[in-house]
Amino acid sequence: MRNRPFEVQPISGAIGAELHGIDLGSELTDATIAALRQALLDHLVIFFRDQDLPPARFLALAKRFGSPIEYPFVKGIDGFPEIIAVAKLPHETVNFGGVWHSDTTYLQQPPMATLLVAREVPPVGGDTLFANQYMALETLSPRMQELLAGLHGVSSSAKADASRTREDRIRSDGTVEARKLLVAEHPAVRTHPETGRKALYVNVAHTVGFAGMTEDESKPLLGFLFRHQIQPEFTCRFKWHPGSLAIWDNRCAQHYAMNDYHGQKRVMQRITLAGDTPR
Ligand code: SIN
Repeated sequence: MRNRPFEVQPISGAIGAELHGIDLGSELTDATIAALRQALLDHLVIFFRDQDLPPARFLALAKRFGSPIEYPFVKGIDGFPEIIAVAKLPHETVNFGGVWHSDTTYLQQPPMATLLVAREVPPVGGDTLFANQYMALETLSPRMQELLAGLHGVSSSAKADASRTREDRIRSDGTVEARKLLVAEHPAVRTHPETGRKALYVNVAHTVGFAGMTEDESKPLLGFLFRHQIQPEFTCRFKWHPGSLAIWDNRCAQHYAMNDYHGQKRVMQRITLAGDTPR
Protein backbone atom coordinates (compact mmCIF):
# COMPACT_ATOMS: atom_id res chain seq x y z
CA MET A 1 0.00 0.00 0.00
CA ARG A 2 1.39 3.42 -0.94
CA ASN A 3 1.34 6.33 1.52
CA ARG A 4 1.06 4.08 4.54
CA PRO A 5 2.18 5.87 7.69
CA PHE A 6 4.89 3.35 8.70
CA GLU A 7 7.82 1.43 7.25
CA VAL A 8 7.54 -2.35 6.84
CA GLN A 9 10.63 -4.49 7.27
CA PRO A 10 10.10 -8.25 6.83
CA ILE A 11 12.24 -10.23 9.29
CA SER A 12 12.31 -13.57 7.47
CA GLY A 13 11.40 -14.98 4.08
CA ALA A 14 8.36 -16.76 5.49
CA ILE A 15 6.58 -14.70 8.12
CA GLY A 16 6.79 -11.57 10.25
CA ALA A 17 7.57 -7.91 9.69
CA GLU A 18 8.72 -5.09 11.95
CA LEU A 19 6.75 -1.89 11.47
CA HIS A 20 8.67 1.30 12.17
CA GLY A 21 7.72 4.96 12.53
CA ILE A 22 4.38 4.59 14.26
CA ASP A 23 3.31 5.46 17.82
CA LEU A 24 0.52 3.05 18.70
CA GLY A 25 -0.34 5.00 21.83
CA SER A 26 -1.37 8.04 19.77
CA GLU A 27 -4.77 8.66 18.13
CA LEU A 28 -4.76 6.44 15.04
CA THR A 29 -7.04 7.15 12.10
CA ASP A 30 -9.26 4.46 10.59
CA ALA A 31 -7.01 4.53 7.51
CA THR A 32 -3.95 3.77 9.66
CA ILE A 33 -5.75 0.90 11.39
CA ALA A 34 -6.76 -0.47 7.99
CA ALA A 35 -3.13 -0.27 6.82
CA LEU A 36 -1.96 -2.06 9.99
CA ARG A 37 -4.57 -4.74 9.47
CA GLN A 38 -3.43 -5.20 5.88
CA ALA A 39 0.16 -5.55 7.10
CA LEU A 40 -1.02 -8.22 9.55
CA LEU A 41 -2.82 -10.09 6.75
CA ASP A 42 0.27 -9.85 4.53
CA HIS A 43 2.88 -10.84 7.14
CA LEU A 44 0.82 -12.94 9.66
CA VAL A 45 2.63 -11.34 12.58
CA ILE A 46 3.66 -7.70 12.94
CA PHE A 47 6.12 -6.31 15.46
CA PHE A 48 6.66 -2.84 16.92
CA ARG A 49 9.43 -1.40 19.09
CA ASP A 50 9.47 1.12 21.94
CA GLN A 51 5.72 1.46 22.36
CA ASP A 52 4.35 3.24 25.42
CA LEU A 53 1.25 1.15 26.12
CA PRO A 54 0.18 1.03 29.76
CA PRO A 55 -2.82 -1.31 30.23
CA ALA A 56 -5.60 1.18 29.40
CA ARG A 57 -3.87 2.28 26.20
CA PHE A 58 -2.98 -1.33 25.34
CA LEU A 59 -6.65 -2.32 25.67
CA ALA A 60 -7.81 0.71 23.67
CA LEU A 61 -5.40 -0.26 20.88
CA ALA A 62 -6.65 -3.87 20.90
CA LYS A 63 -10.24 -2.63 20.56
CA ARG A 64 -9.33 -0.93 17.28
CA PHE A 65 -8.63 -4.38 15.82
CA GLY A 66 -11.48 -6.40 17.32
CA SER A 67 -13.28 -7.43 20.50
CA PRO A 68 -11.03 -8.48 23.38
CA ILE A 69 -12.09 -11.71 25.08
CA GLU A 70 -11.13 -13.13 28.46
CA TYR A 71 -8.70 -16.05 28.63
CA PRO A 72 -10.62 -18.99 30.13
CA PHE A 73 -8.09 -20.21 32.69
CA VAL A 74 -6.19 -17.23 34.09
CA LYS A 75 -7.61 -14.04 35.60
CA GLY A 76 -6.82 -10.69 34.08
CA ILE A 77 -4.60 -8.13 35.77
CA ASP A 78 -6.19 -5.75 38.29
CA GLY A 79 -8.91 -3.68 36.65
CA PHE A 80 -8.42 -5.29 33.22
CA PRO A 81 -10.08 -8.72 32.92
CA GLU A 82 -9.15 -8.90 29.22
CA ILE A 83 -5.39 -8.52 29.86
CA ILE A 84 -3.49 -11.48 31.30
CA ALA A 85 0.05 -11.48 32.56
CA VAL A 86 2.25 -13.98 30.75
CA ALA A 87 5.07 -14.32 33.21
CA LYS A 88 7.89 -16.62 34.19
CA LEU A 89 9.53 -15.84 37.52
CA PRO A 90 13.15 -16.63 38.41
CA HIS A 91 12.24 -19.72 40.48
CA GLU A 92 9.86 -21.16 37.85
CA THR A 93 10.98 -23.73 35.29
CA VAL A 94 8.08 -23.98 32.85
CA ASN A 95 7.01 -21.03 30.72
CA PHE A 96 3.55 -20.14 29.45
CA GLY A 97 3.17 -21.00 25.76
CA GLY A 98 6.40 -23.00 25.51
CA VAL A 99 4.92 -25.41 22.97
CA TRP A 100 3.97 -24.72 19.33
CA HIS A 101 0.35 -23.64 19.12
CA SER A 102 -2.36 -21.43 17.79
CA ASP A 103 -4.18 -19.83 20.73
CA THR A 104 -6.97 -21.74 22.52
CA THR A 105 -8.12 -23.85 19.55
CA TYR A 106 -10.18 -25.85 22.07
CA LEU A 107 -12.73 -22.99 21.95
CA GLN A 108 -15.59 -23.20 19.44
CA GLN A 109 -14.53 -19.76 18.22
CA PRO A 110 -10.80 -19.43 18.83
CA PRO A 111 -9.34 -15.91 18.93
CA MET A 112 -8.53 -14.43 15.55
CA ALA A 113 -5.52 -12.51 16.80
CA THR A 114 -3.40 -11.90 19.87
CA LEU A 115 -1.52 -8.82 21.05
CA LEU A 116 1.49 -9.36 23.32
CA VAL A 117 3.48 -6.51 24.84
CA ALA A 118 6.78 -6.95 26.69
CA ARG A 119 7.07 -5.36 30.13
CA GLU A 120 10.21 -7.00 31.56
CA VAL A 121 12.52 -9.32 29.64
CA PRO A 122 15.70 -11.25 30.43
CA PRO A 123 18.97 -9.79 29.07
CA VAL A 124 19.14 -12.71 26.68
CA GLY A 125 16.63 -15.44 25.75
CA GLY A 126 12.84 -15.51 25.91
CA ASP A 127 12.37 -14.93 22.17
CA THR A 128 9.15 -15.99 20.45
CA LEU A 129 9.05 -18.03 17.24
CA PHE A 130 6.24 -17.92 14.68
CA ALA A 131 5.40 -20.36 11.85
CA ASN A 132 3.46 -19.71 8.65
CA GLN A 133 0.58 -22.20 8.31
CA TYR A 134 -0.35 -21.21 4.76
CA MET A 135 3.13 -22.39 3.77
CA ALA A 136 2.75 -25.50 5.91
CA LEU A 137 -0.31 -26.45 3.88
CA GLU A 138 0.92 -25.34 0.46
CA THR A 139 4.12 -27.39 0.73
CA LEU A 140 2.19 -30.64 1.20
CA SER A 141 1.47 -32.84 -1.83
CA PRO A 142 -1.88 -32.23 -3.57
CA ARG A 143 -3.06 -35.68 -2.45
CA MET A 144 -2.25 -34.97 1.20
CA GLN A 145 -3.98 -31.57 0.95
CA GLU A 146 -7.04 -33.33 -0.46
CA LEU A 147 -7.01 -35.88 2.36
CA LEU A 148 -6.71 -33.18 5.04
CA ALA A 149 -9.49 -31.12 3.49
CA GLY A 150 -11.92 -33.85 4.55
CA LEU A 151 -10.73 -34.07 8.17
CA HIS A 152 -11.60 -32.24 11.38
CA GLY A 153 -9.08 -31.94 14.20
CA VAL A 154 -10.26 -32.33 17.78
CA SER A 155 -8.67 -29.81 20.16
CA SER A 156 -8.61 -30.33 23.92
CA SER A 157 -7.53 -27.98 26.68
CA ALA A 158 -6.15 -30.94 28.63
CA LYS A 159 -3.22 -32.05 26.47
CA ALA A 160 -0.34 -32.51 28.90
CA ASP A 161 2.42 -30.38 27.34
CA ALA A 162 0.13 -27.38 26.97
CA SER A 163 -1.60 -27.65 30.34
CA ARG A 164 1.81 -27.89 32.04
CA THR A 165 2.80 -24.51 30.55
CA ARG A 166 -0.11 -22.74 32.23
CA GLU A 167 0.13 -24.45 35.66
CA ASP A 168 2.24 -21.75 37.38
CA ARG A 169 -0.15 -19.02 36.23
CA ILE A 170 -3.21 -21.05 37.26
CA ARG A 171 -1.65 -21.46 40.71
CA SER A 172 -1.10 -17.69 41.03
CA ASP A 173 -4.11 -16.30 39.08
CA GLY A 174 -6.38 -19.20 38.06
CA THR A 175 -10.06 -18.55 37.35
CA VAL A 176 -12.82 -20.72 38.84
CA GLU A 177 -13.00 -22.41 35.43
CA ALA A 178 -9.28 -23.20 35.47
CA ARG A 179 -9.67 -26.98 35.62
CA LYS A 180 -12.58 -27.22 33.19
CA LEU A 181 -12.10 -29.40 30.11
CA LEU A 182 -12.79 -27.57 26.86
CA VAL A 183 -13.02 -29.47 23.58
CA ALA A 184 -13.75 -28.28 20.04
CA GLU A 185 -13.64 -29.72 16.53
CA HIS A 186 -12.32 -27.63 13.66
CA PRO A 187 -11.45 -28.29 10.01
CA ALA A 188 -7.84 -29.45 9.67
CA VAL A 189 -7.60 -27.01 6.77
CA ARG A 190 -9.32 -23.69 7.39
CA THR A 191 -10.07 -20.90 4.98
CA HIS A 192 -8.98 -17.53 6.28
CA PRO A 193 -12.11 -15.37 6.39
CA GLU A 194 -10.28 -12.22 5.27
CA THR A 195 -7.64 -13.43 2.78
CA GLY A 196 -9.56 -16.43 1.43
CA ARG A 197 -6.33 -18.48 1.64
CA LYS A 198 -6.24 -21.98 3.13
CA ALA A 199 -4.06 -22.78 6.12
CA LEU A 200 -3.19 -25.91 8.06
CA TYR A 201 -5.08 -25.78 11.35
CA VAL A 202 -3.85 -28.50 13.71
CA ASN A 203 -1.31 -27.87 16.47
CA VAL A 204 0.75 -30.06 18.76
CA ALA A 205 -0.36 -28.24 21.93
CA HIS A 206 -4.09 -28.81 21.58
CA THR A 207 -4.97 -31.23 18.74
CA VAL A 208 -5.53 -34.71 20.17
CA GLY A 209 -6.90 -36.53 17.12
CA PHE A 210 -9.13 -36.42 14.05
CA ALA A 211 -12.90 -36.61 14.47
CA GLY A 212 -14.23 -40.10 13.69
CA MET A 213 -10.80 -41.71 14.06
CA THR A 214 -9.22 -43.33 17.10
CA GLU A 215 -6.27 -41.72 18.84
CA ASP A 216 -4.02 -44.50 17.50
CA GLU A 217 -5.27 -43.98 13.95
CA SER A 218 -4.77 -40.20 14.18
CA LYS A 219 -1.34 -40.32 15.74
CA PRO A 220 0.93 -41.09 12.74
CA LEU A 221 -0.62 -38.40 10.51
CA LEU A 222 -0.71 -35.83 13.30
CA GLY A 223 2.90 -36.64 14.21
CA PHE A 224 3.93 -35.98 10.62
CA LEU A 225 1.97 -32.70 10.46
CA PHE A 226 3.33 -31.46 13.80
CA ARG A 227 6.89 -31.95 12.51
CA HIS A 228 6.15 -30.59 9.06
CA GLN A 229 4.31 -27.42 10.10
CA ILE A 230 7.11 -25.86 12.14
CA GLN A 231 10.12 -26.44 9.94
CA PRO A 232 12.66 -23.62 10.14
CA GLU A 233 11.90 -22.36 6.60
CA PHE A 234 8.34 -21.48 7.67
CA THR A 235 9.40 -19.49 10.74
CA CYS A 236 10.74 -16.24 12.11
CA ARG A 237 12.12 -15.43 15.55
CA PHE A 238 11.56 -12.20 17.47
CA LYS A 239 13.75 -10.77 20.21
CA TRP A 240 11.84 -8.72 22.76
CA HIS A 241 12.76 -5.52 24.57
CA PRO A 242 10.53 -3.71 27.06
CA GLY A 243 7.90 -1.89 24.99
CA SER A 244 8.05 -4.36 22.07
CA LEU A 245 4.64 -5.44 20.82
CA ALA A 246 3.59 -8.30 18.57
CA ILE A 247 0.22 -8.82 16.94
CA TRP A 248 -0.28 -12.24 15.38
CA ASP A 249 -3.01 -13.87 13.35
CA ASN A 250 -4.01 -17.16 14.98
CA ARG A 251 -5.91 -18.25 11.86
CA CYS A 252 -2.76 -18.78 9.81
CA ALA A 253 0.20 -18.66 12.23
CA GLN A 254 1.47 -20.62 15.19
CA HIS A 255 3.88 -19.46 17.86
CA TYR A 256 6.30 -20.86 20.42
CA ALA A 257 7.73 -19.10 23.48
CA MET A 258 11.38 -20.09 24.02
CA ASN A 259 12.19 -21.24 27.54
CA ASP A 260 15.92 -20.49 27.64
CA TYR A 261 16.25 -17.96 30.46
CA HIS A 262 16.08 -19.97 33.69
CA GLY A 263 16.70 -17.93 36.82
CA GLN A 264 15.57 -14.73 35.06
CA LYS A 265 12.24 -12.94 34.96
CA ARG A 266 10.09 -12.32 31.89
CA VAL A 267 6.78 -10.46 32.13
CA MET A 268 4.47 -9.81 29.21
CA GLN A 269 0.83 -8.77 28.89
CA ARG A 270 -1.54 -10.39 26.44
CA ILE A 271 -4.93 -9.66 24.89
CA THR A 272 -6.79 -12.00 22.54
CA LEU A 273 -9.45 -10.87 20.06
CA ALA A 274 -12.67 -12.73 19.35
CA GLY A 275 -12.62 -14.91 16.26
CA ASP A 276 -15.19 -16.68 14.12
CA THR A 277 -16.02 -20.37 13.75
CA PRO A 278 -13.24 -21.90 11.63
CA ARG A 279 -14.50 -23.11 8.21
C1 SIN B 1 1.69 -17.10 24.30
O1 SIN B 1 1.72 -18.27 23.91
O2 SIN B 1 0.69 -16.41 24.16
C2 SIN B 1 2.91 -16.50 24.94
C3 SIN B 1 3.97 -16.22 23.95
C4 SIN B 1 5.20 -15.61 24.60
O3 SIN B 1 5.20 -15.37 25.80
O4 SIN B 1 6.16 -15.35 23.88
